Amino acid sequence: MVDLDQLVEDAKRDFAHAKDSVSLEDAKAKYLGKSGLLTEMLKGLGKLEVELRKTEGARINIARAQVESALQDKRNALAEASLQSKLSQEAIDVSLPGRGRGVGSLHPVMRTWQRIEEIFNSIGFEVAEGPEIENDWFNFTALNSPENHPARSMQDTFYIDGQDTLGKQLLLRTHTSPMQIRFASNKVKEYLAQHGNLDHFPEIRVIAPGRTYRVDSDATHSPMFHQVEGLWIGRDVTFASLKGIYTNFLKAFFENNELNLRFRPSYFPFTEPSAEIDVAFPSGKLAGRWLEISGSGQVHPTVIRNMGLDPEEFIGFAFGSGLERLTMLRYGVDDLRLFFENDTRFLSQFPA
Ligand code: PHE
Repeated sequence: MVDLDQLVEDAKRDFAHAKDSVSLEDAKAKYLGKSGLLTEMLKGLGKLEVELRKTEGARINIARAQVESALQDKRNALAEASLQSKLSQEAIDVSLPGRGRGVGSLHPVMRTWQRIEEIFNSIGFEVAEGPEIENDWFNFTALNSPENHPARSMQDTFYIDGQDTLGKQLLLRTHTSPMQIRFASNKVKEYLAQHGNLDHFPEIRVIAPGRTYRVDSDATHSPMFHQVEGLWIGRDVTFASLKGIYTNFLKAFFENNELNLRFRPSYFPFTEPSAEIDVAFPSGKLAGRWLEISGSGQVHPTVIRNMGLDPEEFIGFAFGSGLERLTMLRYGVDDLRLFFENDTRFLSQFPA
């Protein structure tokens, strides 16, 4: 007859030697598996006489219970050991210095945006915002941009598949100038609906800051950038008004009354005459250099007409300035990409 006490001892020893749950389950198979030693013995009971079957069966069952309980103990021990080792690996060193919490602040370009709104609000300009997804009518055609203008090419503009409800091609606006048409033509429509004619139509003075997009990427160009459009339409607005307004704006923006401005003849399809506005600082790192800061001009008669106004009666000026450019000059930043990298070492230099 098999020595069951010995068998139980063997099992306990095998279990004790198991280093992990895989070898423990292997050891279990040897005793309790389908063809394990105890299982085979139980199967063999059928061949015994009734009396013997009873006593042998009882003995085997006791041994099996002992082996099972030894197995369970070892399983618990292994689980406990693995938990302890995990806990010690994940231990928190409470003596380490904390990470701390930084106080965020407004992005430098957003500060420029706010500053521009404040300055133009203070001289009676409204602020408007238009859609970044435009159609080719507002972005190009209404602004007198000819069909073959290079700005319309695939290389320069992000086109969007599909058309708007009027069947116009959709694109990401390449400048804030479409807001000239949107804003002015809305004002005209509203006024006409109320008054029936434009006899006493008030002047339009508005700025429209916002995001714009071009296929461009280097130290001074980013595919997404910000512009602010300015528009003043009335009956006797002159180029001198533009010069006065813009000069005062720049002096206020840079907090510098010694700035020099230059209006350099240029070309835009939607203004005639057109000018680039350059600025020169009297002192500092950039002293003596003319820096281009804005496009501008007298609104083209065709554009006035597309606003719903009579170019014989209404005249005005517009400008479009880059917010990144203004921000770079104000803070002395020389790489535009810094604005878009989200590096807190850069951003934290502009505390609130
Ligand atoms: N929209 C022009 C640009 O993005 C700038 C501009 C605006 C020029 C208004 C003239 C008048 O380059």
